[in-house]
Amino acid sequence: MSAQQVFKPHALLDQLGIAKHPLIVAPDAQNAAIVVTNNPATGTPIAGVRLQSREELNAAVERCDRAFAAWRTLPAPQRGEIIRRIGEEFRRLKEPLGELVSLEMGKIRAEGLGEVQEAVDIADFCVGLSRQLYGLSMHSERASHRMYEQWHPLGTIGIITAFNFPCAVWAWNAIVAATCGNACLWKPSLLTPLVAIASNEAARRVMSRQEIFRPTDVDPADVFSLVIGRDDEVGEPMLADRRLPLISATGSCRMGRRVAQVVGARLGRTLLELGGNNAIIVLPDADLDLTARAVLFGAVGTAGQRCTTTRRLIVHASVVDALLTRLERAYKSVPVGDPLDARTLMGPLIDDRAVAAMRAAIEKAVREGCTLVCGGTEPIDRRAKQPGHFVEPTILRVPRGSIPAITREETFAPILYVFTVESLEEAMTIQNGVDQGLSSAIFTDSVRSAERFLSAAGSDCGIANINIGTSGAEIGGAFGGEKDTGGGRESGSDSWKSYMRRQTCTVNWGGALPLAQGIRFGE
Ligand code: UN1
Repeated sequence: MSAQQVFKPHALLDQLGIAKHPLIVAPDAQNAAIVVTNNPATGTPIAGVRLQSREELNAAVERCDRAFAAWRTLPAPQRGEIIRRIGEEFRRLKEPLGELVSLEMGKIRAEGLGEVQEAVDIADFCVGLSRQLYGLSMHSERASHRMYEQWHPLGTIGIITAFNFPCAVWAWNAIVAATCGNACLWKPSLLTPLVAIASNEAARRVMSRQEIFRPTDVDPADVFSLVIGRDDEVGEPMLADRRLPLISATGSCRMGRRVAQVVGARLGRTLLELGGNNAIIVLPDADLDLTARAVLFGAVGTAGQRCTTTRRLIVHASVVDALLTRLERAYKSVPVGDPLDARTLMGPLIDDRAVAAMRAAIEKAVREGCTLVCGGTEPIDRRAKQPGHFVEPTILRVPRGSIPAITREETFAPILYVFTVESLEEAMTIQNGVDQGLSSAIFTDSVRSAERFLSAAGSDCGIANINIGTSGAEIGGAFGGEKDTGGGRESGSDSWKSYMRRQTCTVNWGGALPLAQGIRFGE
């Protein structure tokens, strides 16, 4: 009997309606044509996923483009009604899909469900947005002329996502892009293909069942397309494909540079959401209990694998010991384990490479003079003998006045570097003194300090919070950051404009042909 015959898909795949999906096969590590997706809590395979080829990518782009040609002509509020139903589908699937996120990615169940909630929220947001794709109108300098701006969809949007938010980040992009009238072609991380299949199928199911958009000779479901493949076969050709006017990519700064180069060379557009090196500043007048809770969620939540994770804590000397006492106590009692167990607060890292990267970062930090407060390499080695990619949340104290090189890097793991400072000015210099510019926060009860932090001379990040940690943003705001974080904005506010093209229109409703700038020509 072959492996395929004995393979019994996980019950969640059945609940999500994808147990018989043609791309999902038996896990076979020897077969180069498939990728094996593992449960990071046990290290055991969940399923195999057949890798798609360059030809399949090409066919998918063609199908998307055909779907786009019809979808763009459907009135936006009617698209919004379909998006509303997609939101309902994610509501219905919240539990099994949230659990699949935990199973395949390793974040705890509450966060897995929270991630699906982000998909629901962005769909709700987009129902209203479908009636608000506003342009401005201006007064023309010419008599009997009207001038205004309108927004049109771009085409097929390439969406590249990372493992850490395997459903939500796609939803922010795809649901907004589709509301705007685009088709979406998603290339997910090969570490989380099952969540991608389940999420994309949820949208396709609604597209197939609805009666509003029934173009001839086009499958309406192709508005939401997925292609799972390796970088050489799918990723690179996607970047170079001129039929994809916008590539929205989430991942490392290294990946973002490659995307920007290849897409930029063909003068395509990019929307980049790359690494963060987010800091919380703590001033003497901060509420330390509140601060400790926010730091714990920001630094330990998702096992430090959010782009918004708190990686640096910059604390005034007068409160650093008191805060560290609280944090050390909290860190040591964080239940690490099975992400689907309701008591767990921190699940595993995604894979062995992530564990090795955390180990290397801790060793480098210690070599660079940091002192270990809790966690470290000892628990990594101890836990290496057990199944799963488990580590313990780690705090490292930075020597006064020094900025170790490792603290400038984003290590996707629960490591918190604690700096001690004498003033807000010094804290701001350290905070802004890194290449990344995603999220930032300050804990203070002083209006002056908070406003200074929010001023033009304050935080240089895309997100700046007062008495709230760096992670856990709502979908209603624009999400993204500056500098090496890539400058893109996705999700709420007016991020929809990134997925549309602006057209300036001037209409002459008079009988004469006056020229702008008072030019007279051939009269
Ligand atoms: C990411 O890590 O790529 O603000 C996104 C947050 C989440 C999204 C994180 N809403 O932490």
